Amino acid sequence: MTTKNARDAWSPEIVAKRNSERTLLQRALWHFARPFVSRLKMFYLKTKYAHRADVRSLDWDWTTTKFNRIALVNLLLSKFGAPAYLEIGCASDSLFSSVLALNKTGVDPSMGGTIRATSDEFFATNTGCFDVVFIDGLHTYEQVRRDVINSIKCLNRGGWIALHDMLPRNWVEQNIPPISDSTWTGDVWKLAFELSKTSGIEFKILRIDHGVGVIKVVDPDVTLCDLRPELVDKAFSYYYDNLSQLPVTEWNDAQTWLRS
Ligand SMILES: C[S@@+](CC[C@H](N)C(=O)[O-])C[C@H]1O[C@@H](n2cnc3c(N)ncnc32)[C@H](O)[C@@H]1O
Repeated sequence: MTTKNARDAWSPEIVAKRNSERTLLQRALWHFARPFVSRLKMFYLKTKYAHRADVRSLDWDWTTTKFNRIALVNLLLSKFGAPAYLEIGCASDSLFSSVLALNKTGVDPSMGGTIRATSDEFFATNTGCFDVVFIDGLHTYEQVRRDVINSIKCLNRGGWIALHDMLPRNWVEQNIPPISDSTWTGDVWKLAFELSKTSGIEFKILRIDHGVGVIKVVDPDVTLCDLRPELVDKAFSYYYDNLSQLPVTEWNDAQTWLRS
Protein backbone atom coordinates (compact mmCIF):
# COMPACT_ATOMS: atom_id res chain seq x y z
CA MET A 1 0.00 0.00 0.00
CA THR A 2 1.04 3.61 -0.52
CA THR A 3 2.17 5.66 2.43
CA LYS A 4 0.31 8.84 3.39
CA ASN A 5 3.24 10.96 2.16
CA ALA A 6 3.21 9.33 -1.26
CA ARG A 7 -0.52 10.03 -1.55
CA ASP A 8 -0.13 13.63 -0.41
CA ALA A 9 2.43 14.25 -3.16
CA TRP A 10 -0.17 13.85 -5.92
CA SER A 11 -3.25 15.09 -4.08
CA PRO A 12 -4.99 17.88 -6.10
CA GLU A 13 -4.50 20.43 -3.30
CA ILE A 14 -0.69 19.93 -3.23
CA VAL A 15 -0.42 19.95 -7.04
CA ALA A 16 -2.45 23.20 -7.24
CA LYS A 17 -0.30 24.81 -4.49
CA ARG A 18 2.93 23.76 -6.25
CA ASN A 19 1.67 25.27 -9.54
CA SER A 20 0.63 28.59 -7.96
CA GLU A 21 4.08 29.04 -6.37
CA ARG A 22 6.01 28.83 -9.68
CA THR A 23 7.42 31.95 -11.40
CA LEU A 24 6.65 32.70 -15.06
CA LEU A 25 10.07 31.42 -16.21
CA GLN A 26 9.69 28.26 -14.17
CA ARG A 27 6.25 27.71 -15.70
CA ALA A 28 7.60 28.21 -19.25
CA LEU A 29 10.46 25.76 -18.63
CA TRP A 30 8.08 23.31 -17.04
CA HIS A 31 5.75 23.53 -20.06
CA PHE A 32 8.50 22.17 -22.37
CA ALA A 33 10.09 19.75 -19.90
CA ARG A 34 6.85 18.25 -18.62
CA PRO A 35 6.22 15.56 -21.29
CA PHE A 36 9.78 14.27 -20.91
CA VAL A 37 9.75 14.38 -17.10
CA SER A 38 6.34 12.72 -17.07
CA ARG A 39 7.48 9.85 -19.29
CA LEU A 40 10.60 9.38 -17.15
CA LYS A 41 8.51 9.39 -13.99
CA MET A 42 6.05 6.84 -15.39
CA PHE A 43 8.94 4.61 -16.48
CA TYR A 44 10.45 4.83 -12.98
CA LEU A 45 7.11 4.08 -11.32
CA LYS A 46 6.34 1.13 -13.60
CA THR A 47 9.74 -0.32 -12.67
CA LYS A 48 9.13 0.38 -8.98
CA TYR A 49 5.77 -1.40 -9.04
CA ALA A 50 6.84 -4.16 -11.44
CA HIS A 51 6.27 -6.77 -8.72
CA ARG A 52 2.52 -6.14 -9.21
CA ALA A 53 2.72 -6.50 -13.00
CA ASP A 54 0.31 -8.90 -14.71
CA VAL A 55 0.59 -9.52 -18.44
CA ARG A 56 -3.13 -10.24 -18.73
CA SER A 57 -5.47 -7.51 -19.89
CA LEU A 58 -9.10 -6.99 -20.87
CA ASP A 59 -9.83 -6.22 -24.47
CA TRP A 60 -12.42 -3.47 -23.95
CA ASP A 61 -12.35 -0.51 -26.33
CA TRP A 62 -14.39 2.16 -24.56
CA THR A 63 -14.51 4.31 -27.70
CA THR A 64 -16.73 1.74 -29.43
CA THR A 65 -19.31 1.58 -26.62
CA LYS A 66 -21.35 4.63 -27.53
CA PHE A 67 -23.38 5.04 -24.35
CA ASN A 68 -21.44 6.73 -21.58
CA ARG A 69 -21.75 8.17 -18.05
CA ILE A 70 -23.53 11.27 -19.40
CA ALA A 71 -26.29 9.16 -20.98
CA LEU A 72 -26.60 7.14 -17.80
CA VAL A 73 -26.86 10.11 -15.41
CA ASN A 74 -29.45 11.85 -17.59
CA LEU A 75 -31.44 8.62 -17.87
CA LEU A 76 -31.48 8.22 -14.06
CA LEU A 77 -32.43 11.88 -13.55
CA SER A 78 -35.29 11.58 -16.04
CA LYS A 79 -37.08 9.31 -13.59
CA PHE A 80 -37.64 12.24 -11.18
CA GLY A 81 -39.85 15.34 -11.53
CA ALA A 82 -37.41 18.00 -10.27
CA PRO A 83 -34.30 15.99 -9.39
CA ALA A 84 -31.44 17.08 -7.14
CA TYR A 85 -28.06 15.93 -8.50
CA LEU A 86 -24.70 15.63 -6.71
CA GLU A 87 -21.38 14.99 -8.45
CA ILE A 88 -18.21 14.21 -6.49
CA GLY A 89 -15.15 15.12 -8.61
CA CYS A 90 -16.04 17.37 -11.54
CA ALA A 91 -12.70 18.34 -13.19
CA SER A 92 -13.48 20.25 -16.42
CA ASP A 93 -17.24 19.67 -15.99
CA SER A 94 -17.54 17.35 -19.03
CA LEU A 95 -20.30 15.50 -17.20
CA PHE A 96 -21.49 18.23 -14.80
CA SER A 97 -22.26 20.68 -17.63
CA SER A 98 -24.10 17.97 -19.60
CA VAL A 99 -26.44 17.11 -16.76
CA LEU A 100 -29.97 18.29 -17.41
CA ALA A 101 -31.03 18.82 -13.77
CA LEU A 102 -31.55 22.44 -12.65
CA ASN A 103 -30.69 21.62 -9.04
CA LYS A 104 -27.10 20.39 -9.17
CA THR A 105 -24.15 20.43 -6.79
CA GLY A 106 -20.61 19.64 -7.89
CA VAL A 107 -17.81 19.08 -5.36
CA ASP A 108 -14.14 19.27 -6.32
CA PRO A 109 -11.10 20.60 -4.42
CA SER A 110 -9.39 21.80 -7.62
CA MET A 111 -11.74 22.74 -10.46
CA GLY A 112 -15.27 22.53 -11.86
CA GLY A 113 -18.55 22.00 -10.07
CA THR A 114 -20.00 24.48 -7.58
CA ILE A 115 -18.20 23.73 -4.29
CA ARG A 116 -14.43 23.89 -3.77
CA ALA A 117 -13.86 21.13 -1.20
CA THR A 118 -12.92 17.48 -0.89
CA SER A 119 -15.82 15.07 -0.63
CA ASP A 120 -15.03 14.43 3.05
CA GLU A 121 -15.17 18.15 3.79
CA PHE A 122 -18.42 18.50 1.86
CA PHE A 123 -20.20 15.59 3.54
CA ALA A 124 -19.05 16.75 7.00
CA THR A 125 -21.33 19.81 6.78
CA ASN A 126 -23.84 18.90 4.07
CA THR A 127 -27.51 19.10 4.95
CA GLY A 128 -28.93 18.61 1.43
CA CYS A 129 -30.53 15.47 -0.02
CA PHE A 130 -30.13 14.14 -3.55
CA ASP A 131 -31.91 11.86 -6.02
CA VAL A 132 -28.87 10.91 -8.08
CA VAL A 133 -25.21 10.98 -6.97
CA PHE A 134 -22.25 10.41 -9.30
CA ILE A 135 -18.98 9.53 -7.52
CA ASP A 136 -15.83 10.28 -9.50
CA GLY A 137 -13.43 12.03 -7.09
CA LEU A 138 -10.27 10.48 -5.67
CA HIS A 139 -10.04 6.99 -7.17
CA THR A 140 -8.86 5.07 -4.15
CA TYR A 141 -10.78 2.21 -2.55
CA GLU A 142 -10.96 3.77 0.94
CA GLN A 143 -12.07 7.17 -0.42
CA VAL A 144 -14.83 5.88 -2.71
CA ARG A 145 -15.94 3.59 0.09
CA ARG A 146 -16.46 6.66 2.31
CA ASP A 147 -18.08 8.54 -0.59
CA VAL A 148 -20.63 5.73 -1.08
CA ILE A 149 -21.45 5.48 2.65
CA ASN A 150 -21.88 9.27 2.89
CA SER A 151 -23.94 9.40 -0.32
CA ILE A 152 -26.36 6.74 0.94
CA LYS A 153 -26.95 8.89 4.05
CA CYS A 154 -28.07 11.90 1.99
CA LEU A 155 -29.98 10.03 -0.73
CA ASN A 156 -33.71 10.62 -1.14
CA ARG A 157 -35.94 7.54 -1.07
CA GLY A 158 -35.82 5.81 -4.46
CA GLY A 159 -32.45 7.44 -5.24
CA TRP A 160 -29.56 6.08 -7.28
CA ILE A 161 -25.77 6.27 -6.95
CA ALA A 162 -23.33 5.75 -9.81
CA LEU A 163 -19.55 5.32 -9.65
CA HIS A 164 -17.07 5.83 -12.43
CA ASP A 165 -13.99 3.73 -13.32
CA MET A 166 -14.95 0.34 -11.91
CA LEU A 167 -13.46 -1.74 -14.73
CA PRO A 168 -9.70 -1.33 -15.21
CA ARG A 169 -8.30 -3.16 -18.24
CA ASN A 170 -4.77 -3.80 -17.03
CA TRP A 171 -2.58 -3.55 -13.92
CA VAL A 172 -1.19 -0.14 -14.89
CA GLU A 173 -4.62 1.54 -15.11
CA GLN A 174 -5.52 0.58 -11.55
CA ASN A 175 -2.21 0.95 -9.72
CA ILE A 176 -2.01 3.09 -6.59
CA PRO A 177 -0.31 5.55 -6.93
CA PRO A 178 -1.07 6.42 -10.59
CA ILE A 179 1.62 5.18 -12.99
CA SER A 180 -0.27 5.92 -16.18
CA ASP A 181 -0.33 9.17 -18.16
CA SER A 182 -3.78 8.37 -19.52
CA THR A 183 -6.56 6.30 -17.93
CA TRP A 184 -6.36 5.95 -14.15
CA THR A 185 -9.22 3.98 -12.60
CA GLY A 186 -7.43 3.43 -9.31
CA ASP A 187 -8.63 0.53 -7.17
CA VAL A 188 -12.30 1.57 -7.15
CA TRP A 189 -12.94 -2.02 -8.39
CA LYS A 190 -12.41 -3.35 -4.85
CA LEU A 191 -15.65 -1.69 -3.77
CA ALA A 192 -17.53 -3.68 -6.43
CA PHE A 193 -16.81 -6.91 -4.54
CA GLU A 194 -18.34 -5.39 -1.41
CA LEU A 195 -21.33 -3.84 -3.20
CA SER A 196 -22.17 -7.12 -4.91
CA LYS A 197 -22.42 -8.78 -1.45
CA THR A 198 -24.32 -5.95 0.30
CA SER A 199 -28.00 -6.45 1.10
CA GLY A 200 -30.52 -3.63 0.86
CA ILE A 201 -29.20 -2.47 -2.50
CA GLU A 202 -29.28 -3.65 -6.10
CA PHE A 203 -25.95 -3.27 -7.90
CA LYS A 204 -24.71 -3.68 -11.47
CA ILE A 205 -21.64 -2.53 -13.38
CA LEU A 206 -22.42 -1.25 -16.86
CA ARG A 207 -19.79 -2.23 -19.42
CA ILE A 208 -19.49 1.32 -20.75
CA ASP A 209 -17.06 4.21 -20.23
CA HIS A 210 -14.38 2.50 -18.06
CA GLY A 211 -17.08 0.68 -16.11
CA VAL A 212 -19.90 2.57 -14.42
CA GLY A 213 -21.20 1.00 -11.21
CA VAL A 214 -24.89 1.68 -10.52
CA ILE A 215 -26.50 1.28 -7.10
CA LYS A 216 -30.24 1.32 -6.52
CA VAL A 217 -30.81 1.80 -2.80
CA VAL A 218 -33.78 -0.30 -1.74
CA ASP A 219 -33.33 -0.16 2.06
CA PRO A 220 -32.17 3.23 3.46
CA ASP A 221 -30.60 1.43 6.48
CA VAL A 222 -28.15 -0.42 4.27
CA THR A 223 -24.79 -1.43 5.79
CA LEU A 224 -21.96 -1.87 3.33
CA CYS A 225 -20.40 -5.34 3.40
CA ASP A 226 -16.87 -4.96 4.82
CA LEU A 227 -14.19 -6.95 2.99
CA ARG A 228 -11.35 -4.52 3.74
CA PRO A 229 -9.09 -7.02 5.56
CA GLU A 230 -9.29 -9.32 2.51
CA LEU A 231 -9.16 -6.68 -0.24
CA VAL A 232 -6.88 -3.93 0.95
CA ASP A 233 -3.63 -5.46 -0.35
CA LYS A 234 -5.08 -7.10 -3.46
CA ALA A 235 -3.93 -6.04 -6.90
CA PHE A 236 -5.06 -6.45 -10.52
CA SER A 237 -4.45 -10.23 -10.53
CA TYR A 238 -7.16 -10.73 -7.90
CA TYR A 239 -9.61 -8.57 -9.86
CA TYR A 240 -8.87 -10.41 -13.11
CA ASP A 241 -9.20 -13.86 -11.51
CA ASN A 242 -12.50 -12.97 -9.80
CA LEU A 243 -14.11 -10.72 -12.39
CA SER A 244 -16.77 -13.35 -13.14
CA GLN A 245 -18.16 -12.80 -9.60
CA LEU A 246 -19.04 -9.19 -10.44
CA PRO A 247 -22.41 -8.22 -12.02
CA VAL A 248 -20.95 -6.77 -15.23
CA THR A 249 -23.88 -5.97 -17.53
CA GLU A 250 -24.29 -4.71 -21.08
CA TRP A 251 -26.05 -1.34 -21.49
CA ASN A 252 -28.99 -2.86 -23.40
CA ASP A 253 -29.52 -5.62 -20.84
CA ALA A 254 -29.78 -3.07 -17.99
CA GLN A 255 -32.48 -0.87 -19.52
CA THR A 256 -35.52 -2.36 -17.75
CA TRP A 257 -33.71 -2.23 -14.40
CA LEU A 258 -32.44 1.33 -14.89
CA ARG A 259 -35.99 2.50 -15.65
CA SER A 260 -37.52 0.59 -12.70
C1 LIG B 1 -11.77 11.97 -13.12
S1 LIG B 1 -11.96 13.62 -12.63
C2 LIG B 1 -13.70 13.86 -12.66
C3 LIG B 1 -14.31 13.83 -14.04
C4 LIG B 1 -15.76 14.22 -14.12
N1 LIG B 1 -16.61 13.58 -13.13
C5 LIG B 1 -16.33 13.88 -15.49
O1 LIG B 1 -17.05 12.87 -15.61
O2 LIG B 1 -16.02 14.57 -16.45
C6 LIG B 1 -11.58 13.52 -10.93
C7 LIG B 1 -11.72 14.82 -10.16
O3 LIG B 1 -11.81 14.48 -8.78
C8 LIG B 1 -11.24 15.52 -8.06
N2 LIG B 1 -10.88 15.03 -6.72
C9 LIG B 1 -9.71 14.51 -6.29
N3 LIG B 1 -9.78 14.22 -4.99
C10 LIG B 1 -11.04 14.54 -4.59
C11 LIG B 1 -11.72 14.46 -3.35
N4 LIG B 1 -11.13 13.99 -2.25
N5 LIG B 1 -13.00 14.89 -3.31
C12 LIG B 1 -13.63 15.35 -4.42
N6 LIG B 1 -13.03 15.45 -5.61
C13 LIG B 1 -11.74 15.04 -5.70
C14 LIG B 1 -10.04 15.96 -8.87
O4 LIG B 1 -9.69 17.28 -8.55
C15 LIG B 1 -10.56 15.80 -10.30
O5 LIG B 1 -11.00 17.02 -10.81
